[in-house]
Amino acid sequence: MVPASLSRRSFGKLAGVAALGLTTHADAAESTAVGSAPFPKDFLWGTATSSYQIEGAVAEDGRGRSIWDTFSHTPGKIEDGSTGDRAVEHFHRYKDDVALIKALGVKAYRFSIAWPRVFPDGVGQPNPKGLDFYNRLIDELLANGIEPYATLYHWDLPQALQDRVGGWQSSDTSKALGDYAAYVAERLTDRVKNIFTVNEVGRFVNFGYGWGIDAPGLKLPAAQLNQARHHVALAHGLAVQAVRASGRAGTRVGAAENIAACVPAIATPENIRAAEIATRELNAGFLGVVLEGKYTDGFLAYAGADAPKFTPEELKIIATPNDFVGLNIYAPQFYVTASDKAPGFHVLPFPTSFPHMNSEWLRIGPEVIYWAPRIAAKIWNIETIYISENGTSSEDKIAADGQVYDLDRIMFLRNYLTQMQRAIAEGVPIRGYFLWSLMDNFEWIFGYGKRFGLYRVDFETQARVPKLSAAFYRDVVARNAIGV
Ligand code: BG6
Repeated sequence: MVPASLSRRSFGKLAGVAALGLTTHADAAESTAVGSAPFPKDFLWGTATSSYQIEGAVAEDGRGRSIWDTFSHTPGKIEDGSTGDRAVEHFHRYKDDVALIKALGVKAYRFSIAWPRVFPDGVGQPNPKGLDFYNRLIDELLANGIEPYATLYHWDLPQALQDRVGGWQSSDTSKALGDYAAYVAERLTDRVKNIFTVNEVGRFVNFGYGWGIDAPGLKLPAAQLNQARHHVALAHGLAVQAVRASGRAGTRVGAAENIAACVPAIATPENIRAAEIATRELNAGFLGVVLEGKYTDGFLAYAGADAPKFTPEELKIIATPNDFVGLNIYAPQFYVTASDKAPGFHVLPFPTSFPHMNSEWLRIGPEVIYWAPRIAAKIWNIETIYISENGTSSEDKIAADGQVYDLDRIMFLRNYLTQMQRAIAEGVPIRGYFLWSLMDNFEWIFGYGKRFGLYRVDFETQARVPKLSAAFYRDVVARNAIGV
């Protein structure tokens, strides 16, 4: 129905738009190629979770404590005062949860292994019972035709390592991750063909060791923070080598990083170049050193006396070739324009009116999932990218009829997926997508106050109910295209 308010003047405006060669609603049907064209035939649709956020059962089968157990039990650290002690009881409900994954029609599931289940003290005596949980989970996934993608480290560092050597402040922790990776690879890669080493270095190092926001809640000075990040990069390299040495031939391995995502504010050639420079410099501390085998001159000059200490041998380990790069993409972090002055880009301030989703940090900029992979692939010659996380929180209230109409999540996904398809259509090598998250869970410092799931979880009864976005995603996966 044409609203009465759509006056002749409005039609005139539309005609003007058409004259400029821009698309109007009327001819949109003919130009839906971006939104509705199918994704590549073998595109990998998946969903993702992490151990501490969903498992619960923190004292079962010999699991050791992690820094997140300690942190969440420290008064004042978690917004709603909750912990992951129970989480969403995935440890006991994993079979039902695999059925939920299957119902989405996805081919892959990214989960993380809790290091303290496998090595309760971080090193030394393994706990086979702890690994058995993942054996059961993997077997259940495969029996249901779902490919397991395992992450070795999604932030639940064994508390013993934090206590003994200061966690990531010591390269002993890097070596410990390598040994844990070897142990896991030897036992799981008969069935797990893809392994992510570490998840979001850009977050857990800065938030956990720099700003005191995440576990272990430290506020280290810049030099120690840079050193800790270097130890994580070293751990990643050692883990890649360990998977190659101890896993079945052909096991693929890479990191999952929340790339500092830089978007040209206006896509002129100069600004695009500026976004490339910014991406390289602002990711120099992890992705850059992993993919280039060196810290950029800009990074070292900026850090000055606070730069990390390293040896050429360590850089070689860090830069052991990866099989893929995982990018976790949510908000555009930096909009940039070109600058004549070093370092060649301006970072623009965000207006306070910039829109965000239910999580305040989650600014809405669907084009970020186009630009970040496109720029990363170009500057580091990456051949295989997975979007290892993307998704949003939503209010997720239950309507009177018992349903959850999370239209904002559907809006978010539709727009981000459209931009992802734009990238793929232009040849950016994105091979798969893992939607965060399968179900509501313990959202770190937000406790149970933010919901990111496709399934709503009643945290009391633990009942799981599909939200409308689950139907949306199932439809995308089934047609391998975004419905119009
Ligand atoms: C990513 C993490 O940063 O975003 C996930 O890898 C996390 O573990 C998700 O759940 C949402 O973040 P947050 O801080 O809102 O819980």
